[in-house]
Amino acid sequence: MALVTHTVSINAAFLQEIKDDHHELRQLMHHTAAMLKRPDWMRPELDRLVELFGKLRDQLAMHFSLEEAFGYFEDAVSVAPHLCKRAESLRSQHFQLYSDLCRLAERAEGLLYGPVDDTVLIEIGDDYRQFAAVFHDHESRESELIQEAFHHDLGGGD
Ligand SMILES: [Fe+2]
Repeated sequence: MALVTHTVSINAAFLQEIKDDHHELRQLMHHTAAMLKRPDWMRPELDRLVELFGKLRDQLAMHFSLEEAFGYFEDAVSVAPHLCKRAESLRSQHFQLYSDLCRLAERAEGLLYGPVDDTVLIEIGDDYRQFAAVFHDHESRESELIQEAFHHDLGGGD
């Protein structure tokens, strides 16, 4: 009986293109971070924060969906096992990152139904900065993988 082990590979050119095209995601992250630095909050700013989180959640879902549809693929034969392990680990990180952002968006939404609570907003700000750091690290590691996959395809790898 033949056993086929599927591994995760990347299509470096598509994955790079998706990253290059995602200006809106970068802008939304920048605006959300700036908004969360506010020293004091009024109801209209809270509405704007909830709106930003909603748009950011949609953009992140689209970003990860595009990456998973066109940037990653299942491969029956692994030509570069050291790259495949990292590809699998990075792809599986998408779910956790998206879930973390959804929780932040829900917490911000919850503030709309009561008095503006500065303590909760400070916590949301701290958790957002933590989320953004993990996301940027994820993006950097995917970019490194893209460069190594290009290098490998050009015959520089093993
Ligand atoms: Fe990714």
